[in-house]
Amino acid sequence: MNNSDIAIQVNPHLTISNYLSTENESDVLHEILDGLKAEQKYISSRFFYDEKGSALFEEITSLPEYYPTKTETAILKANATNIPGHYTNIDIIELGSGDCTKISVLLDAVQKNRMKHINYIPVDVSEAAVLKSADILSLKYPGLTIHGLLADFLKHLDQLPGEQKRLICFFGSTLGNLDRKQATNFLMNLKRIMNPGDQLILGLDMVKDSSILHKAYNDSQEITARFNKNILNVINEIIQTDFDTHNFEHYAFYNEQEARIEMHLKAAKDMRISSPLFVEKIDIKAGETIHTENSHKFTLADIRKFETLTGLKIQNIYTDKEQWFSLVSFINI
Ligand code: SAH
Ligand code: AVI
Repeated sequence: MNNSDIAIQVNPHLTISNYLSTENESDVLHEILDGLKAEQKYISSRFFYDEKGSALFEEITSLPEYYPTKTETAILKANATNIPGHYTNIDIIELGSGDCTKISVLLDAVQKNRMKHINYIPVDVSEAAVLKSADILSLKYPGLTIHGLLADFLKHLDQLPGEQKRLICFFGSTLGNLDRKQATNFLMNLKRIMNPGDQLILGLDMVKDSSILHKAYNDSQEITARFNKNILNVINEIIQTDFDTHNFEHYAFYNEQEARIEMHLKAAKDMRISSPLFVEKIDIKAGETIHTENSHKFTLADIRKFETLTGLKIQNIYTDKEQWFSLVSFINI
């Protein structure tokens, strides 16, 4: 489909295209059902982000225990002027853009008279996040052209604009929410659509002491627990199930072997879940878990492996003094 077919012009500097509305509802239903009927039940983490989920994630980013956002933002601040080189005629595409704080750090480093040469393309499945950040950024950076894409970065990479040089930003270690194999395949697909000279800035959370990781996903205010449980409300909304969040406990732990935090929802009692949209019932036993998220952590060796496997060339690895987080700048040559 052509981009212009579905773009809505909000104002002269802001358009929004929605590729999610082209998704088949029955495919989504079957995707969710497959997960709930599996031996180890699971729900894809992309379903966290309705309006409430995006707001809860924003709360997580300012929790004292959740170091990734603070650390990555500080690395960005320290290197913002070096990252995209010359900002003339460039499309800045941000995958899984969420709120606009990180891109603001980059845009703050741009001279005001250059803003008109930049197109900013936030790509996210969360409509609330794209609309809110586009609103804030168009006020904050007059002259900046914004084209928001409501899209799934796993399915809609071919819809990204490609007429001029691109700086693709993928912050927050959202890559870590994919399986290791899926993450490599994703980067290979990204490389396939990149032109020579296009850059990718990839934020990756690094392997570290497991107690720091454990605390980051088990915060004392229990915001992460609310974020985790909210996925059941999202599923209820989409497939009309009758999950009651009160019957589940937040369960997050570091899986040392896989170098990842796993988030699950643990059933506090036996229950039977149903929906008018399907005949079968979903039985869940007390103590059984629904796996809702993996958050993989990376090493320098993993980063080098991405370079070898994708053919994208590492230009720079920016990090903090404790090496808790890395911002990797790749170029497609
Ligand atoms: N980049 C921001 C937000 C990270 S939260 C930051 O670093 O703080 C992850 C974001 O990715 C959410 O806004 C979520 O809606 C989005 N997201 C998750 N899966 C996605 C997918 N498959 N396609 C597009 N966006 C996705
Ligand atoms: C978006 N993503 C990288 C976050 C993470 O750390 O994996 C989501 C999150 N889950 C719990 N807290 C934050």
